[in-house]
Amino acid sequence: MCGIVGYVGKQSAVPIVMKGLAKLEYRGYDSAGMAVWQKGDLKIEKTAGRLDRLEDKLKQNPINGTVGMGQTRWATHGRPSDANAHPHLDSEEKIAVIHNGIIENYMELKEMLQKEGHEFHSQTDTEVIPHLLEKYYEGDIEKALRKVLHIIEGSYALVVMHEDEPEKIVGARKDSPLIAGLGKGENFIASDIPAILEYTREIIVLNHGEMVTITEDDVTVTDLEGRRIEKDVYPVTWNAEAAEKSGYPHFMLKEIHEQPRAIKDTLAGRIEKGKTDIVLDEIEFSADYLKKLKKIYIVACGTAFHAAMVGKYLIEHFTRIPVEVDIASEFRYRDPIVDDPEDYLMIVVSQSGETADTLGSLREMNRKDVRIMAITNVIGSSVAREADDVLLTRAGPEIAVASTKAYTTQLVAFYMTAIKMGQIIGRLDNNETRDLIDALLDLPLLAQKVIDANENKIEKMAKRYSSKDDIFFIGRHLDYALALEGALKLKEISYIHAEAYAAGELKHGTLALIEKGVPVFAIATQPDIYAKMISNVQEVKAREATIIGLGTEGDQEIDKHSDETIHIAKTQKYFTTVLAVIPLQLFSYYAALERDCDVDKPRNLAKSVTVE
Ligand code: AGP
Repeated sequence: MCGIVGYVGKQSAVPIVMKGLAKLEYRGYDSAGMAVWQKGDLKIEKTAGRLDRLEDKLKQNPINGTVGMGQTRWATHGRPSDANAHPHLDSEEKIAVIHNGIIENYMELKEMLQKEGHEFHSQTDTEVIPHLLEKYYEGDIEKALRKVLHIIEGSYALVVMHEDEPEKIVGARKDSPLIAGLGKGENFIASDIPAILEYTREIIVLNHGEMVTITEDDVTVTDLEGRRIEKDVYPVTWNAEAAEKSGYPHFMLKEIHEQPRAIKDTLAGRIEKGKTDIVLDEIEFSADYLKKLKKIYIVACGTAFHAAMVGKYLIEHFTRIPVEVDIASEFRYRDPIVDDPEDYLMIVVSQSGETADTLGSLREMNRKDVRIMAITNVIGSSVAREADDVLLTRAGPEIAVASTKAYTTQLVAFYMTAIKMGQIIGRLDNNETRDLIDALLDLPLLAQKVIDANENKIEKMAKRYSSKDDIFFIGRHLDYALALEGALKLKEISYIHAEAYAAGELKHGTLALIEKGVPVFAIATQPDIYAKMISNVQEVKAREATIIGLGTEGDQEIDKHSDETIHIAKTQKYFTTVLAVIPLQLFSYYAALERDCDVDKPRNLAKSVTVE
């Protein structure tokens, strides 16, 4: 996710674009830049860091012009740096491009262009676009862009300026959002409504595969063949705060609903349907290296730790390498065993990449010379900078304290890592790998299906249980790891006491707490231990608990033993967690709402715990 703003009109572009970008910093804030057409020249200013760094640079080197565009970036390719900030330019520096999304085939395009003499100055995927435009430009930037859009693969919200066509900004959309704003003698383009709400409430929403040209007195939308498209103009009724949440009442609900897109983005460019390759960015494991490993330590906190637990099950299943998962605050002080560092791998998981305990654990193992792989959502974070390998989740900024899309994209990162390791070590053949990859690619759609099929029902359910003092979550294997996450979500935003338990462990004590009417979420998505799980459900049912069953669609058995059930779409048994967590997230959200809790900012908590 990145924030994009463009302006064409009679006013100075810089203040309008900068103000708009400030409204979009929630979409990304690790670097920023602008392009402005000034008396015949395309002027660029860009920098790593937040918008105020760009503001300082623009004060030192003012740019005056009435056509300009800018970005506040959330890096997915190429760490935050001046060179990697957008806009990116062609060889002659006459074309500026700003992009939000992922160009999946950028490596092959970059190689082709380099062979033709194009020089690149960044590690971004975006930089291939201005060079492709330069290659195809024959005096018509729209025509050149249409050619380029037929060549690039992936997702984009693009805005383009050409020095020789200064009266316009051209945009295009596929997956990543892009809107145009209609003014009087001026027009706007942006990735989201908050950026332009101060100037206009008349917007045009671009659909996938559409292009737009904005000038000071016209907004023209076309398809990729150049045919004009008549678009509806929507009046925006939101206030500024509602606009930042895209109309959702809270960031948490917005981020729950962003999960299909976040999962899709995290998979993008790393796997392809029908193929067996899994590209974990620059991370390489050799078969010899993996076969030599005595143990993999996975270390994290909170929700990231729950994702790590799923990672353990799957990496052990696909590789048979022993995996030890630990919460960072314990790990860092228990003098972990590392006789020969070559025999160990550490994986740290952290959405923010700044959690003190996770960072402390990483540094502890760094001191012991153990190789460290990070799964993180923030490319420029301390964890990302200090790890040897980084696998980025592409959830975009997660604002709500309760982690949702970060968790599901961490799971997806583990799915790809575990399968890749299994493939390298020789325990997964091509057919098995292809089937697993195809199942992964179905997850975004299935996640959307789970939301659509369950949200209304869960909202009502949550209201009914919101007055309960205690709610339990039980499961086995992957469902136990999920139970932990479900309990954390509920307690941290609704303040209801919630406890997760391995279903097989209940009879060793906790069963004493189960009495008539105590709600118990029974998570039963794992076929291999399904019968055992059902008998645990019967155990708590026998104590007159109220059972909320969570199973896969078509499973009627769980219904027989539950007071009510939630069904999730069917997928490979390894991947059910990423779907089954969604109903639990929604349940927590609506229960917290019913209890008038501050959903996005729960008491006593912070989004990133940067202190011990
Ligand atoms: C999750 O809902 C919590 N907000 C919290 O447990 C969080 O997951 C934990 O603090 C770890 O944060 P990190 O992923 O940024 O390291």
